[in-house]
Amino acid sequence: MNVIVVGSGIAGLTAALHAHESGHAVTLVTKGALGDGSTGFAQGGVAGVYGVGDSAQQHAQDTLDAGAGLSDPAAVSMLVADGSARIAELIARGVAFDRSPDGRLLLGREAAHSHARIVHAGGDATGAAISRALTAAVRETGITVVDGAFLVDLVVVGGVACGIRMLVDGTHSELRAAGIILATGGAGHLYAHTTNPVGTTGDGITAAVRAGAAVADLEFVQFHPTILDAPPAFLISEAVRGEGATLIDADGHRFMFDVHPDGELAPRDVVSRAIARQAAAQGSPVRLDATMLGAATLASRFPTIDRVTRERGFDWAHDPIPVTPAAHYLMGGIVTDLDGRTSIPGLFAVGEVARTGVHGANRLASNSLLEGAVFGARAAAALSMPASAPLPAPTSREDDPLPGRATTSPFSRPALQQLMWDHVGLLRTDDGLTHALDVIRSWRANGPAPRDVADHEDANLLLLAEETVSAALRRTESVGAHFREPALIGV
Ligand code: SIN
Repeated sequence: MNVIVVGSGIAGLTAALHAHESGHAVTLVTKGALGDGSTGFAQGGVAGVYGVGDSAQQHAQDTLDAGAGLSDPAAVSMLVADGSARIAELIARGVAFDRSPDGRLLLGREAAHSHARIVHAGGDATGAAISRALTAAVRETGITVVDGAFLVDLVVVGGVACGIRMLVDGTHSELRAAGIILATGGAGHLYAHTTNPVGTTGDGITAAVRAGAAVADLEFVQFHPTILDAPPAFLISEAVRGEGATLIDADGHRFMFDVHPDGELAPRDVVSRAIARQAAAQGSPVRLDATMLGAATLASRFPTIDRVTRERGFDWAHDPIPVTPAAHYLMGGIVTDLDGRTSIPGLFAVGEVARTGVHGANRLASNSLLEGAVFGARAAAALSMPASAPLPAPTSREDDPLPGRATTSPFSRPALQQLMWDHVGLLRTDDGLTHALDVIRSWRANGPAPRDVADHEDANLLLLAEETVSAALRRTESVGAHFREPALIGV
């Protein structure tokens, strides 16, 4: 079968390799160069069950707890059941996870995990190691790669997905296939502050929305608690807190234990909100104190962070560093079954673009690379298998009869990102969400037809912003990463 995989992070690369190894003719289409995207930036690692006393059941329970009751237990069971095989596959494909002198995998600790469970490579360069190994494997297979290709839209004929429209070097073209696997990642650039690399603009989700695919949980946006507060955004891995680093306020007080019994290793949404509130209250960033770990440990365990913080003028071995939250991961996305099938026959979605049900309202740290590998492989295996259960139901989009009221502020991407940060971020109010929806609708109604990639990205961000805000307004209760407050609090 001819298969198109769109995206070349861990999910897309895994799907492409598995599809190729099953005998399919695979074309891998990617927006930047092969391997560009969020995977290469992942620091912490991959959650795996290797620790003494740990079990797949414990990993599943931690995942369900983090998801705040909104994860799909069947999807979580699948994740932990297939997880070890996928980590073994990464090792077989050449990912050298860090090991002790006697050869055991070294395990990091991250928030809301009951056990040390995170396998990592190059200390804090896990994603780069995975990306290198998988892109090399793809190149060796001879899989056709089309890079620099922007996904404009899906081609759906008679209700079945059968191709994509793309824009390469300013030229529009169409590619047809019997199976399409979307692995286009998330949409961190909806927000003024994000850990995501440039180009993370929700292209796959919005193409699926335009094609009529069911999407869900878009209100659940994860904000990573600790980004170096010195632009451009740079992630300080949760693994640093896992090793013992603390969060302190302007007086040097370790404030997280005032908020949650797990302190710095409380669930990510709790830590992010606490940091934002503390920073607003004291009028300056909170600081991450890693000095107790010592210069040698920081340099060997976190070589990337050590280098970048020093390049930015911080000596974290001697001084606490300023940190702030930033948009990190989209829990929602295109609704899939346990094999990545979407509500449109022929269309699959894997990785961050998908809503498999694993993450619920809040993703457990280091489950995203695992999810990409597990469901990338499952989707490839399902390409030529009929679905054993009905496909996810399509959702009808509510087209708002009332366009947003005219706004005096003209559209620009930074203006949209600031609007989302201010009103659809860590702390949300009814008034703020309603205002954001009004402005976004007005910008959408008045926007010109897209011509180039930047225009298409802007249109995608606006569409996804509208979907996200609408979903956030519909969910009136606070749960996980979606936190509603009665009154506006600036963050
Ligand atoms: C981190 O290293 O803190 C990020 C890990 C993740 O988002 O899973």
